Amino acid sequence: MSSIKVSPSLLQGRDHQLAGITDTLVDKGFAIIPGFLTLEESRNLATECLNLRDQGEFHLAGVGRGEMLEVRPEIRSDEIRWLARNDCGPLQAEYLDLMTSYQQTLNCELFLGLVEFECFCAVYPQGSFYQRHIDQFRGVEQRTITAITYLNENWRESDGGQLRIFLNEETQETLEVLPEAGTFVTFLSADFWHEVLPAERDRLSITGWFKTRPIGEVFPLQ
Ligand code: OGA
Ligand code: MN
Repeated sequence: MSSIKVSPSLLQGRDHQLAGITDTLVDKGFAIIPGFLTLEESRNLATECLNLRDQGEFHLAGVGRGEMLEVRPEIRSDEIRWLARNDCGPLQAEYLDLMTSYQQTLNCELFLGLVEFECFCAVYPQGSFYQRHIDQFRGVEQRTITAITYLNENWRESDGGQLRIFLNEETQETLEVLPEAGTFVTFLSADFWHEVLPAERDRLSITGWFKTRPIGEVFPLQ
């Protein structure tokens, strides 16, 4: 009799790990977790992202929001595809579930009142970058926690594309993260300026934000 190999879900056995990440976030404002996803998970997620790309579903990312959204390749030159539960691959849907679980942990431990996770897969084609920026839009503080998972096997220093996080505006102390397959990075969106250095080869990631409810939004009383 042949046995069917069922891969465990991305969610399985994560509670302890997500609590640990949340603790580090409280402590330092950011957390970097190499090996958050296995190589196989990262590979399968990359395949789903690249399938969408092959279908012509990516577009140049913009800066700003709403009516102010503009494509400005001199500021950022990555291409993105937004993901939604009903409009993504099966493993991408599991990734969204995993992020929902992280959101619940954040809410339980930090009382952040996060109500939404928005995310896209991004590709930085060779030569592309994202200049120093902060993830909150001016005057809109909904984006609270940034969460990024990288999907690039055997990324070397010479491949560029590092995420550079500015830890201290006065001393200009920085930290650079290689976008290696399976590495997860999360930080307080309002607190850290960051940039993506020019990538020397195609660089894939899934990038997202946990958001709070817009200020002033009220519920109708029933
Ligand atoms: C972003 C961003 C960082 C990265 O999309 O806002 O900063 O490492 N991405 O991909
Ligand atoms: Mn950013």
